[in-house]
Amino acid sequence: MSLPTINPTQTKAWKLLEKHFQQVKNIKMQHLFAKDPSRADRMKISWNDFYVDFSKNRITDETLSLLLNLAEEVKLKEAIKLQFSGAKINQTEDRAVLHTALRDFSNMRPEVERTLQKMKHFSEAIIQGDWKGYSGKPITDIVNIGIGGSDLGPKMVTEALKYYKNHLQIHFVSNVDGDHVMETLKKLNRDTTLFIIVSKSFTTQETIINANSIKDWFLNGASAQDIDKHFIAVSRNPNAVKDFGISDENTFPMWDWVGGRFSLWSAAGLSICCSIGYDHFEELLKGAHKMDTHFKEVKFSENIPVILAVLSVWYNNFYRAESEAVVPYSQYLDKFVPYLQQLVMESNGKNIDRNGNEIKYQTGTIVWGSTGVNAQHAFFQLLHQGTKIVPIDFIGFSESLYDAKKHHSFLMANLFAQKEALLYGTFDKEIENIFNSYNGNNPSNTILIKKLTPNSLGSLIAMYEHKVFVQGILWNIFSYDQWGVELGKRIAKENLSSIEKKN
Ligand code: F6P
Repeated sequence: MSLPTINPTQTKAWKLLEKHFQQVKNIKMQHLFAKDPSRADRMKISWNDFYVDFSKNRITDETLSLLLNLAEEVKLKEAIKLQFSGAKINQTEDRAVLHTALRDFSNMRPEVERTLQKMKHFSEAIIQGDWKGYSGKPITDIVNIGIGGSDLGPKMVTEALKYYKNHLQIHFVSNVDGDHVMETLKKLNRDTTLFIIVSKSFTTQETIINANSIKDWFLNGASAQDIDKHFIAVSRNPNAVKDFGISDENTFPMWDWVGGRFSLWSAAGLSICCSIGYDHFEELLKGAHKMDTHFKEVKFSENIPVILAVLSVWYNNFYRAESEAVVPYSQYLDKFVPYLQQLVMESNGKNIDRNGNEIKYQTGTIVWGSTGVNAQHAFFQLLHQGTKIVPIDFIGFSESLYDAKKHHSFLMANLFAQKEALLYGTFDKEIENIFNSYNGNNPSNTILIKKLTPNSLGSLIAMYEHKVFVQGILWNIFSYDQWGVELGKRIAKENLSSIEKKN
């Protein structure tokens, strides 16, 4: 069984959407709200601790129903079923796509369960200080060496869940820039540091070069027998791991049915597990699984990832919006946007469709953004008075973790002020100074979550994973490969040999 291969632009729904767009493209949301006081009440989804307000979009009920018809017509339902069934929907790499199986405790694969148990015991030994470094001292610092999905997800979650962390200091080395490596190492003691090399392939040049330099640094003060106490690998290439000098016991598996950018739920998340402890890590997985169930079971009109995905397609393909911004009002989510950039753009930046034909419509959105309120003092000028349409996702939490009420009230007042200002602008106001006028009518979604916990973070991440998948289905592309990154890697290899010859 393979994914449907329907060109969305040839569907009845798309043609109707094109016509409909001509009628509504100049619509003003200010009017929509004025005419229909129940709009905000209708265009929202309450689910667990999530409240998603999508009323502030340039849509009518008809737009939404046409967009959902499009989802039906491209056979989204069948595609979702197929993904969860374990069929090889990553056709160009001949792989299944089952990151969702990593967090399904009701139906856990034995190899996943074994790995989780190994992660639990390992992280407990490190946290409790039972695992000793070569000088007999417990581990104080962990360095995750990896890049792309082997870095961005673990780094984002470790930062996001800092409130729940223990005494261990977690560092991330990703860039092959030696200065990044040296800056990290200079803070560390060899005998109390653990290095986790995360590389699904164990051939990624940046990671291997960094891992070798770090091993050299380590061996400068320790001996080869000490490697066992300080080097861990997470990979699906056990031979390369062995050649590097890491034992089987110190190796955690990855599987070909988990893509790099979807791997934080696997042993690639070992640094997360060490940072917050296994129980919290399990909560993260369980939160993601809740969203998986919602995505799989709830009808499209109330399905959060589906609604967010079709809205994004509406702006991308009809309004021709080039990008979308994501603005979390939580400093803990500082690394959320870089993580999303890989998830979204590596998945959906494709120009060949599932039939192997060149695509004549727009795919993959550009995602950018940063935390509120910092972003307000940086790029919000362009959102309020620029000439581009940039749909925004605001993410906020009703409760703050440290109960700093005064700060939190101010933070949330800003989030609500921004979406209101972006919506209404100075549309119906007397303006004395033209430079102080705002058109408003800028679209946004608000994702309001009760509290930042491992569980709610898991749901939030899974929400975006599924949004990306839905968009890929709508655009008739393969979201789970990334052939586009290969050419540059090959040329870099050739450049390296000529640069080295010159030196
Ligand atoms: O170059 C892109 C990529 O393949 C990503 O998809 C992946 O997350 C990253 O490189 C790292 O790959 P690996 O885990 O195999 O080192």
